[in-house]
Amino acid sequence: MDASAGVLGRPADDALAHPLFEGLGVDRAASPAAVVIFGASGDLTSRKLMPALQALASRGQLSPGTAIVGVGRTDLGDEGFRRQMRQAVEAAGGRRPGGKVDEQAWAQLEEGFRYVAGGYDDLATYKRLGEVLEDLDRDHGTAGNRLHYLSTPPGVFSAVVHQLGAAGLHHPARGGQFCRVVIEKPFGRDLDSARRLDHELHEVLEEDQIYRIDHYLGKETVQNVLALRFANTIFEPVWSRQYVDSVQITVAESEGVGHRAGFYEQAGALRDIVQNHLLQVLALTVMEPPASMSPTGIRNEKVKALDAVDVLEPHEVLSDTVRAQYGGGWLGGEDVPGYLEEDGVAPDSRTETYLAMRLRVDNWRWAGVPFYLRTGKRLPKRVTEVALEFSRVPHLPFAPTQAVQLGPNALVLRIQPDEGITLRFGAKVPGQAFDVRTVSMDFSYGAAFLEEAPEAYERLLLDALLGDPTLFIRTDEVEQAWRIAQPLLETWAEKPVLPVPYEAGTWGPVEADRLLEADGRRWRQP
Ligand code: BG6
Repeated sequence: MDASAGVLGRPADDALAHPLFEGLGVDRAASPAAVVIFGASGDLTSRKLMPALQALASRGQLSPGTAIVGVGRTDLGDEGFRRQMRQAVEAAGGRRPGGKVDEQAWAQLEEGFRYVAGGYDDLATYKRLGEVLEDLDRDHGTAGNRLHYLSTPPGVFSAVVHQLGAAGLHHPARGGQFCRVVIEKPFGRDLDSARRLDHELHEVLEEDQIYRIDHYLGKETVQNVLALRFANTIFEPVWSRQYVDSVQITVAESEGVGHRAGFYEQAGALRDIVQNHLLQVLALTVMEPPASMSPTGIRNEKVKALDAVDVLEPHEVLSDTVRAQYGGGWLGGEDVPGYLEEDGVAPDSRTETYLAMRLRVDNWRWAGVPFYLRTGKRLPKRVTEVALEFSRVPHLPFAPTQAVQLGPNALVLRIQPDEGITLRFGAKVPGQAFDVRTVSMDFSYGAAFLEEAPEAYERLLLDALLGDPTLFIRTDEVEQAWRIAQPLLETWAEKPVLPVPYEAGTWGPVEADRLLEADGRRWRQP
């Protein structure tokens, strides 16, 4: 498939028959390939990657010549790996309503499982991998194509890529068309380390081989931000400082850190969510319309959007951001422990599990509109949304008593769960009086479409196999995102800012409420 086919695989209806969406009506099925997963015994492989591959096979989107090769330090053996993957697929099936394993799809994949045990820094591992891949090309029809997926701890990304290079596995084998490398987040720990990592990857790979993943971009409703904005005439004219008063973007989770403290202690909310997922959603919300949905068209506009975000000065980091950590509390009918009591967390940890910030996007469209971003763990529920709050009408021809229940107009893009869009506007309350009250008009994905949306990882794995980089992060996007995060990291390092506490099961600390109250606004309670 032409790599310039874009993000919306198949236009759903005439609404997308616009030059912007040209060339998207393409059937999506991957060519034969070996999918090599580094970090194969890890959590992501079982929870996300394997169920996604099984779902793709089930939809007929994987070639029979697909093999799945696990690489990891734990010695599972081919049979152990196959067993583990079977359990993963069963567990995922069990999570879907009426979900059962599609045995036909499983049978298609089953023959192609291989496992290579060894250290990521050890050339011998890659020599063995090379032999396995050759066998698969010969016996299983993987046709010399490779998709290496790096789901390892980030500290070994560079080593894996260098060893792939040393073993000659960084290009397609004889007769093959492609060799691509998918890199999980986080991409670097700060601006410098991200640049260094990028440089190291480019010593072995070309940019068009590198697929930096941010699974939020694989979510249907995140992509729908583009459809909503650019397939309709009614939203774009009001999508600017002329009508928008402020924007709130929320990525809330009810889960705590779980068993990922080892990773999270080093990351915190800024590196784990803000630098990637939140800023990607922000970029899609504020970007200009691209000329086409080509990878270059979309990514250029996202980079320009991020470039327009004003970097906070150190004093603004103190006044415009709130860094917090959850304490114990009551959530979902359970008494849950505080972050410091979680397994693997240092008793004096300063890692933030919540971050709220006020940003400006300094360009013609958005000058003067505050963007309020927040994310946190152990908030009352799991919800991701973008809410545009519109300016009030210039003159209200009603008595103030008639409009006490009238809030600002708002457009809320509900990204998850309960995916959809809500428009809030004023309506007359039925009766002899002329009272006006805010009402909601709701669009729900579940009700409007019968089609089941593919999971984010299904979408992205297939895109990577097809060579469509639109929903992956280009190197300059990564830099822009770190540029925005960098002053927070520096200020926190210089003036150790202790995270303020918030109680699990609440919407965050009072300091975050004050951040908006100072502007005469309030956080939404989704
Ligand atoms: C991951 C983060 O990238 O995204 C996790 O590392 C977080 O900490 C997860 O829980 C949230 O993803 P989703 O798809 O459940 O919103």
